[in-house]
Amino acid sequence: MAEIIDGKAFAAGLRERVGRQVATLGEKHGITPGLAVVLVGENPASEVYVRNKGKQTREAGMESFEYKRDESISEQELLDLVDELNRDERVNGILVQLPLPDHINDEKVLAAIDPDKDVDGFHTVNVGRLWTGLPGLVPCTPLGCSLLLKDKLGDLSGKHAVIVGRSNIVGKPMAALLLRENCTVEIAHSRTHDLQGEVKRADIVVAAVGRREMIQGDWLKEGATVIDVGINRIPTDEGKTRLVGDVHFESAEKVAGAITPVPGGVGPMTIACLLNNTVEATCLQRGVEVPAG
Ligand code: GUN
Repeated sequence: MAEIIDGKAFAAGLRERVGRQVATLGEKHGITPGLAVVLVGENPASEVYVRNKGKQTREAGMESFEYKRDESISEQELLDLVDELNRDERVNGILVQLPLPDHINDEKVLAAIDPDKDVDGFHTVNVGRLWTGLPGLVPCTPLGCSLLLKDKLGDLSGKHAVIVGRSNIVGKPMAALLLRENCTVEIAHSRTHDLQGEVKRADIVVAAVGRREMIQGDWLKEGATVIDVGINRIPTDEGKTRLVGDVHFESAEKVAGAITPVPGGVGPMTIACLLNNTVEATCLQRGVEVPAG
């Protein structure tokens, strides 16, 4: 049976480290990092995320600024808010919660964020920095996955990693991060011929397709490390819902060497990495070294 990778515990440790870094920044430099989160409209899932982000930001000793705007906000008004946050010295990190309403162009808004405050790592400047190996801000979810993998496996050099999914938020940055760790990286997706055969060759599988329980145990190589980024809500017999990943956990845990559960695997790592990125962004802006923590 596979070892279960406890993302919840790892994320708690990471948040504690961020808390110590924040304390050091305060004591040595008189700096308190600040994170601004912008939420447009009333998406219940986004509201839960934003509430958790605010709570965990404050728990780590940072300032949290929340900007809730009505669904009817114009694109220009949102761009003006981003511009105001870019110029606000108390704000070191800016996150505009996605998805945005249809009348607003996501790319235009993301492009307006100061790349040095872009704690999501979605700005094309940060994408370019990541792919060319320059220091920059890295998207939180793939960063969390790579931290879990390095913690579990140590050196990733030469390992064959198959990423299933090619989104800008997870699949593509995940590929860049694993390449940086000297993996042999493959991005598979919905048009891949013989997806099952590709996954079978993988030492590391990162599942980020958004299709519930698609990857089955018999797709995996014996002993593979499986990171499940999927969050799919399915109805139960009792009329409630439960979360499942993109990997069929019950069959996969019989074959994998280690696997992340859903929930409690990758999920908690995302906000922990956001807090980590806010500290990094603060240090970058203020020209101080990132404290060891
Ligand atoms: N919506 C869902 N996940 C994310 C994320 O990581 N960042 C932002 N900005 N919006 C999201």
